[in-house]
Amino acid sequence: MTPQQKKLVRAARRARTRAYAPFSRFRVGAAVETRRGRIYAGCNVESATYGLTLCAERVALFSAVAAGERAFRRIAVVADTNRLTPPCGACRQIIWELCGDAEVILANLKGKARIERSRRLLPDPFDASLL
Ligand code: THU
Repeated sequence: MTPQQKKLVRAARRARTRAYAPFSRFRVGAAVETRRGRIYAGCNVESATYGLTLCAERVALFSAVAAGERAFRRIAVVADTNRLTPPCGACRQIIWELCGDAEVILANLKGKARIERSRRLLPDPFDASLL
């Protein structure tokens, strides 16, 4: 991994420690890097009304958008699993919406990582080009 990729994974890892996951106990951190090099992080936030849960990826991306960002280079996702945790379907849709074909770095706490592309994770996406 490049120094930028490693830095992004570290930010996702830090964010993971702030996860609010009392129901699943499955803590996830994410961090998104803008084209200009800024990093925004997020963690999963659960609800006793389970369906309201927001994944770490969307929290990171929405917080970047709320800060005025619109152009993203890559996103990292970190969970404490041997099999790397990929974004759920809803997050893949939002990653495509906001990042287009970006790098998606999946990593765990043991230093295992894999680099994907959002295009591969969401083939044949529905998006604004179809409206
Ligand atoms: N979760 C994420 O935050 N990101 C993922 O990529 C997979 C799942 C969260 C949602 C929920 O709080 C917990 O993990 C279990 O599904």
